[in-house]
Amino acid sequence: MKIAVVLGTRPEIIKMAPVISHILEQEDECLIIHTGQHYDTQMSRQFFIDLDLPIPDYNIGIGSKSALKQISIIIDELEDILESECVDIVLVQGDTNTVLAGAVASNKLKIPVGHVESGLRSFDKDMPEEINRILADDSSMLYFVPTNETGINLLNEAVDHDRIYVTGNTIVDACNRHKEIALKKSKLKDELLFDDYIALTMHRAENVDDNQRLSQIVDAILDLEYNIVFPVHPHTKKSLVDAGLYESLVEAENIQITKPLGYLDFLYLLCGSRVILTDSGGVQEEAVTLNIPCVTLRYSTERPETVSCGANILAGSTSVEIKKNITRILEDEIVYEGMSNAVNPYGDGESSKKIYDVIKSYHDRGLLRIRKLNDITRFNGYHLYSISSDVTVGEYEKTNRNSTIQQVFNSDGESEFITDDLELKNKTIIVKEFEVN
Ligand code: UD1
Ligand code: UDP
Repeated sequence: MKIAVVLGTRPEIIKMAPVISHILEQEDECLIIHTGQHYDTQMSRQFFIDLDLPIPDYNIGIGSKSALKQISIIIDELEDILESECVDIVLVQGDTNTVLAGAVASNKLKIPVGHVESGLRSFDKDMPEEINRILADDSSMLYFVPTNETGINLLNEAVDHDRIYVTGNTIVDACNRHKEIALKKSKLKDELLFDDYIALTMHRAENVDDNQRLSQIVDAILDLEYNIVFPVHPHTKKSLVDAGLYESLVEAENIQITKPLGYLDFLYLLCGSRVILTDSGGVQEEAVTLNIPCVTLRYSTERPETVSCGANILAGSTSVEIKKNITRILEDEIVYEGMSNAVNPYGDGESSKKIYDVIKSYHDRGLLRIRKLNDITRFNGYHLYSISSDVTVGEYEKTNRNSTIQQVFNSDGESEFITDDLELKNKTIIVKEFEVN
């Protein structure tokens, strides 16, 4: 089996590292195509070292450009690479410009796409990432979703349930594998100015490209009576300098600014942090994985499980709300304990194996191919049925071989996550009926 992984930014490298390692351990071929969206050593190469990854087979070297240029050039370059490499499947992870380009290019070349961390929705189409993840999902064949809730987002968009696999999130694999090494090996302990601190990261365009929001966040952290360690993303540094806010942070006694950290150093930093303050997607997931309360500098999250399990609070970006939430968590022991002990919704750290096993099973059954229109000999449409008998999804589909259940609504009209053993009695289903060559 030959699997291509298209990646380009820091979180994609971190979250695909366990998948790449697992593929290589099974002695399958893994072609790594780096788009070069992140290119500084501290945003890219350092992670290949820390996570023990092979050097990429290709680097498109796209660098910093407008989103449209990044996407169109990556698609253009991928055409030649993918046409010459004859891979069985392309994997992309997450919601960056790289992911959109990788998914669309592969789809147009009729190469199946597996989307890792598929199905996330913030329902905020002003976020560039929201459009990227919707379009990447639209181009995919296999959907690896972290939780049941994310799977439901896809069912609501009429994705076939038999293509959706709940695998957990590979960030748990990465965290579990590297935490002990980080605690032993990281040299950061010699550089930290504080023993007791809050770790801060931010880089989201809606915060750092908006001067008003940026200065509210800066006001909050300057004003807090807690120490803060802040590894600054290059995008954020540029915005802080342009807004004339960078110097005040460098000079503040309660704030330690660092360069972006490698994975081992960053894990070390998180492990010692009392609270995590962030607008990062991956860091919200790491916070619950490491049992550290998280305050998120956003008004919406495509990771609602972190909030519903009690580990994360959305504070938005006003100075008052940020300070209020952090102070409450740090000063109220019951709140602190409750948030620290939330149950991790992102799985048991075996996501990479689950993803690999699905791909392998499709490959071995000859199913890694995009179903072309002329494979479908008859399309009978979508039908709505009320089910009164004792039957599960698996039994229904076994009896009605040319049907796939698209959606299941319970008697309250709520959409349910579809699994083979889901009982259908007294529920309404939407079924797609067709015949295939
Ligand atoms: C990108 C993703 C975002 C993801 C983040 C992870 C998109 C639309 N955004 O945001 O979803 O959460 O990566 O960190 O794909 N820069 C450097 N050196 C680098 C990389 C970037 O200096 O190695 C600076 C450049 O000034 C660049 C800016 O950061 O213009 C933004 O980089 P870009 O990759 O476009 O977006 P990110 O903010 O990194
Ligand atoms: N991270 C890191 N060093 C840092 C900041 C973050 O290694 O200085 C890691 C962090 O552990 C997480 C990932 O980067 O796994 C998150 O990436 P980022 O916040 O850039 O992107 P997002 O997850 O928001 O897309």
